[in-house]
Amino acid sequence: MTDATALERATAAYIERFGSEPTLITRAPGRVNIIGEHTDYNDGFALPMALPFDIVIAAAPTDDQSISAQSEGFEPTTIDLSMAPDPAAGWAAYVHGIAHLLAEAGHAVGGWQGCLASDIPAGASLSSSAALTMASGLAALGAAGSTIDPIELALLGQRVENEVLGFPSGNLDQLASVSGRANSASLIDCRSVDVTPVPLPAGIEIVIMDTGTRRELVDSEYAARRADCERAAEILGVAALRDATVADLDRLEDDQLLMRARHIVGENQRTLDAAEAMRAGDAVALGELMSQSHASLRDDYHVTSPALDAISALAQTMPGCLGARMTGGGFAGGAVALVRADATDAFVAAMLDAYEPPVEQPAVAPVQFWPVTANAGAEILRTPS
Ligand code: GLA
Repeated sequence: MTDATALERATAAYIERFGSEPTLITRAPGRVNIIGEHTDYNDGFALPMALPFDIVIAAAPTDDQSISAQSEGFEPTTIDLSMAPDPAAGWAAYVHGIAHLLAEAGHAVGGWQGCLASDIPAGASLSSSAALTMASGLAALGAAGSTIDPIELALLGQRVENEVLGFPSGNLDQLASVSGRANSASLIDCRSVDVTPVPLPAGIEIVIMDTGTRRELVDSEYAARRADCERAAEILGVAALRDATVADLDRLEDDQLLMRARHIVGENQRTLDAAEAMRAGDAVALGELMSQSHASLRDDYHVTSPALDAISALAQTMPGCLGARMTGGGFAGGAVALVRADATDAFVAAMLDAYEPPVEQPAVAPVQFWPVTANAGAEILRTPS
């Protein structure tokens, strides 16, 4: 492994395979959700930031409606855009799915040949598949010389998950990937899809903590949480749990539905409070809200895991750490900590030293810690002249 970035590796792979410079280059970042978990499909609020880890596609348009792509560590693939996407096609399902839905929505898309490279750790709750979808959507558009409103691209990307892959996700991951900005998180209203940049407080760092555990066969748990939320909203007579209040919760007699709804109502408020704390430069309040979010996801929403609980609890005890929580869908993968910038190096060293993966949920990938800065959203870096 070299230290070359995804951009450098994708470009080098293209030149090696096709013998010329790529004329079309796109990139899309992964995301870390700072707070606002499982709120997106409840029409609520989330506060992610785009990561300095990208998926990059180095490509050139082709004359036909087909995509010929290779990606590091995967078999090359050829996609016929006149066919429907195959959900069993692995990573190609995202590449094909977004081109298909873009065309269906009336956008001009073109075929391309190219090479992909990724700096987004897969399975660490950092939305590498949303980034793949956004980068390849931009490649299909760029190959035809068309442009798109990034929010529309994100919503079509969510439909790839829902309709092509059959996974009932919300719109957080794709909106986070397209709306990133340097030094800012994105406050997303997942109902109106308004995105407001919120500057990160000075003097702190966001640290991703990958437990090295990976999710298996829990898509049904995600769908079950979503169904619980829809049922609770129906009982309360609201369009979505976004519209429920703390007082409404008394009307839920079923314990499980009460716990699910209590998490969503509380998490939406915590997310709005976190955005306020960020604006006020109050990192201590922000950290407390993050730790409260973890407790609610653990005790009411039941989507944490032994490793996510252990790493978050340990981080919360470390000097300079203001708060920590699981991030993303849960059950395995990554967590996120808010750490004073002057304590970050010592924090990472102490975590590497002290964190032991719990025996009931062993790590299958290296346990790693990454202090991260906020990145710009998905974009076309080079278009054919
Ligand atoms: C996954 C889904 C998102 C969101 C998060 C939880 O990442 O893809 O839509 O629901 O889980 O916040």
